[in-house]
Amino acid sequence: MTSNQSRPPLGSPKLTFSADAFFDTQEAPTGLEKKRRQAQQFVERHSSEGRKVVLVTSGGTTVPLEQNVVRFLDNFSAGTRGATSAEYFLAAGYAVIFMHRQHSLSPYTRHYSHTTNPFLDLLSEPAEEDSKDGSSPITVLPQHSSALKPVLHNYHSARKAGTLLRLTFVTVTDYLFMLRELSQVMQPLGKRGMYYLAAAVSDFYVPSQKTPEHKIQSGKGSLMIEMDQVPKVLKPMVQKWAPEGFIVSFKLETDEDLLIPKARNALERYGHQVVVGNELNRRKYEVVFVERISDGNFKESWIRLDPQQDNSVLGKAGEKEIEEDIVRNLEERHEQWIKSAQS
Ligand code: PMT
Repeated sequence: MTSNQSRPPLGSPKLTFSADAFFDTQEAPTGLEKKRRQAQQFVERHSSEGRKVVLVTSGGTTVPLEQNVVRFLDNFSAGTRGATSAEYFLAAGYAVIFMHRQHSLSPYTRHYSHTTNPFLDLLSEPAEEDSKDGSSPITVLPQHSSALKPVLHNYHSARKAGTLLRLTFVTVTDYLFMLRELSQVMQPLGKRGMYYLAAAVSDFYVPSQKTPEHKIQSGKGSLMIEMDQVPKVLKPMVQKWAPEGFIVSFKLETDEDLLIPKARNALERYGHQVVVGNELNRRKYEVVFVERISDGNFKESWIRLDPQQDNSVLGKAGEKEIEEDIVRNLEERHEQWIKSAQS
């Protein structure tokens, strides 16, 4: 990246594609070891109690443009797919490691996102005479309580059972280190582990060695950014980190004609179990499951909801969410995958 001829360009013309080279040259995020320990305890406990465990990745990764970060590149994902799916996995009896972008949507609290459904709008103030000493309870407005009750119930159930572990990332580098670490922690689960990769992962980044320490100064003309390609980590994940796991990747496209060819290509290249394809503007009511049947042969199955339903309010009471069907479908496939190990 350069704002004029005198600043050395960021990003190397020599592209770093390999995952090994990435992990050898980039610094692991602080706190990784603590997250590994938390995940290990979680996996050991739920495995010994006979639960299947799913790693759900969710939200977008950032690419910092400065070491003292003032600016960064980001993407559109709010983490709706991941947070919603995590709720359905919990309802299906899975223990969920929810690896998500800091401040993105989370299971249960997503229903009361500050932009679409601010929780303060649900509450009534105590009457002035009752609130003199500040001890009068604040109550939920009656018209909101029937929608809130099941959310609150499920939230408390998951907390009580300890079946949800939330771990956060911010940058694409954090994401890749965490994905490697958590996949390896889950490896002993064998086929009982599922990996649901719904995060929107940046394809390009600026290696730390090429990132300026201080805020990029303006006033020196245009800014050019040169970025290296992020290594595709699905390959080492399938081959080394989680070789027996049930791995579900997502494919996002804006050109629908590319969706199926690119999903098939990913399956051929990486050899995992399923790609869930989604087109950006239809992702809330249409997805396609793509699987490989044999060499060069694939099967596609679509899930479609009524596009007329109002998706403007997250998890609006009474409205079907496509993640319910996605998770049910994957749960069945995962069961078959586990049985295939036993036969
Ligand atoms: O949060 P929402 O608004 O609900 O949006 C949900 C979603 C559209 C982001 C989600 O459904 C989705 O499609 N996520 C995947 C987006 C994405 O990163 O697509 P991709 O084509 O760039 O990557 C495809 C796959 O390659 C991903 O499963 C990823 O795990 C894998 N990958 C990506 C980058 C990388 N360096 N290595 C990888 O292995």
